Amino acid sequence: MAKNGQTQNVTIRVQRFNPDVDAKPYLASYEIEATADTTLLDALEQIKATLDGSLTFRRSCRHAICGSCAMNVNGRNMLVCNRRVNALLDRRGRVTIRPLPYLPIIKDLVVDRTSFWEQYLRVKPWLIPPENGAAPAGEYRVLPAEVEALKMAETCIMCGACYSACQVVAMNKQYIGPHALLKAFLRVLDPRDAAPAERLEIVGGDDGVFRCHTIFNCIDACPKGLDPTFAIETLRKLAQKRLAFAAERVERQKSLGTGRDA
Ligand code: SF4
Ligand code: FES
Repeated sequence: MAKNGQTQNVTIRVQRFNPDVDAKPYLASYEIEATADTTLLDALEQIKATLDGSLTFRRSCRHAICGSCAMNVNGRNMLVCNRRVNALLDRRGRVTIRPLPYLPIIKDLVVDRTSFWEQYLRVKPWLIPPENGAAPAGEYRVLPAEVEALKMAETCIMCGACYSACQVVAMNKQYIGPHALLKAFLRVLDPRDAAPAERLEIVGGDDGVFRCHTIFNCIDACPKGLDPTFAIETLRKLAQKRLAFAAERVERQKSLGTGRDA
């Protein structure tokens, strides 16, 4: 293993596939020099710049915030911009990078995320405000436990690692999926949102929360340490008492007060 300031030769195996010329995907090996700080994304950039300019992959921020560089590394989904090569070498000094599984490959490490975004839009991830005059005169009030839950859901970067690790998604692209259910959870818990019953009807339908097999792959895959399973479990309970929950929330806002007189 390379120590600070040292370099070592490592092998990066990358799944390649160009639909214009290849009948099926194959693994190509590249020898590169890595230091203790070389990330997997650095390694891919090095391959592209010095060994094979046709290598295709997505990346943008390099800071684990844009979500575009999620790939499958040694069999696990992760972001490649915040993981060091050194820490992921197998016993033969190799790392194997493949595209996110269960999604159509466009080229090399780039997958088609159409179903991911379609499911995201299906839960209406935007805030639906109350009709004119229905908002409280003061601020909305949220319980500390709700703030914690919302914070957890808010830090999702839409990388798709959970979606592509989900066995239900693998079998059924109609399933809404952990990423979109996490967003639905965010809106359902947000007291500013005026459509919790409508949202719970969507996520409680045939393609929603009751399809989850609670395998926890989404939690294992999430590079942000989020818990989509908790969100799904919460939505399940709320979907079962959908209309009662919407009414309860109105009453609770009244009982918490608005912080100033109307
Ligand atoms: S929940 Fe985690 S793994 Fe899933 S899209 Fe959001 S950040 Fe990525
Ligand atoms: S490049 Fe943006 S998350 Fe990795």
